[in-house]
Amino acid sequence: MHHYTQGQPTRQGHKAIPDGQFEEEQGLEGFFGPVSHLIKKQPSTRWTNIEGPLKPRMYDLVKLEGGTATQRLLYNNDCTMSNVWMQPEAPDRIRARRNADGDWLYFCHKGSGSLLTEYGILDFTPGSYINVQKCVTHAFLLNEPANFFLIENRTSHFQEPDRGIVGRHVPWDMNSLGKPELDRLYAVMKEKNVEVKEIDIKHCDEFTKISYDSSVFDVTGWKGDLFPFTLHMKDLMPLMSHRVHLPPSAHSTFAGRGFVVCSFVPRPFEEEGDALRVPFYHQNIDYDEVLFYHAGDFFSRQNLHSGMMSFHPAGFPHGPHPKAFEKVKSKTHTDEYAVMVDTRWPLKRDPVLDRVELSDYWKSWMK
Ligand SMILES: [Fe+2]
Repeated sequence: MHHYTQGQPTRQGHKAIPDGQFEEEQGLEGFFGPVSHLIKKQPSTRWTNIEGPLKPRMYDLVKLEGGTATQRLLYNNDCTMSNVWMQPEAPDRIRARRNADGDWLYFCHKGSGSLLTEYGILDFTPGSYINVQKCVTHAFLLNEPANFFLIENRTSHFQEPDRGIVGRHVPWDMNSLGKPELDRLYAVMKEKNVEVKEIDIKHCDEFTKISYDSSVFDVTGWKGDLFPFTLHMKDLMPLMSHRVHLPPSAHSTFAGRGFVVCSFVPRPFEEEGDALRVPFYHQNIDYDEVLFYHAGDFFSRQNLHSGMMSFHPAGFPHGPHPKAFEKVKSKTHTDEYAVMVDTRWPLKRDPVLDRVELSDYWKSWMK
């Protein structure tokens, strides 16, 4: 289909939007398919009432805090998102885990420690992604209680994002991955007196415990291109244009089948006078959107704190809160760290979310 216009459109998306008016992007296939920019007198988020289950939702996951628990939050056939709390265990009580249902991408929100794997040891701190492929045996050696936003990839394996025309070294460089170290694994296990003899295996979401009479970590060497790794948000090189606001897909970090994982990290605002500096209102028509707010100042949202999660299903537009337009005028750069998961197929909500939902969130665009 060729481009077609009616009325008074803009020449360039996200730029030179007439004063007092608002641009809404309606696009298919997650910012890569057919797309139109509609110039409107008012943002479509100005609803006065919503009746029914489809609405923007906000959850305070901090209220789920505590203990040792994996709490499922949102899920579809391709992926599951969970909130995970773990406590440090005595060295002789550490158990390994293995996921036969898919890959686990742990995002460390709080706490720090090391991941013991057959391939070697990996360290993590808040802001680290830890990618553990399906059936890779791993155990957590924690320095302190730790909280993860966990993304399970059930129908594929995490891939590099589509790097398009920007080459192989952004938004992250292969050399910036944390890779497992085998010699240090044994040094740390010896120093801390750790011996892991039990593995909890998840298969069809049921757990089976397998026991051994000696350590499950006994590899003397390995080669290959399958191994768990870490990637820290500080090693992300966000793409931007000083002239125009780039779509969220520019911040893709990992891709699965039917979903992408994106990271928002600090970056300077667009400089040019007619450039939009807040996220554009959009209907990413084919995708549900989840944002986990890790740290910083979430400039496009009001009344947010770290540890919250928003859920904007397909079916209505979303965009910045009204005060964001004022707020960016006094700022030179974004100062937020957040993880976004956009899914091609609708997500279902686990009932636990009802307990921690901010029920008036859908009203937060009202002036
Ligand atoms: Fe979005």
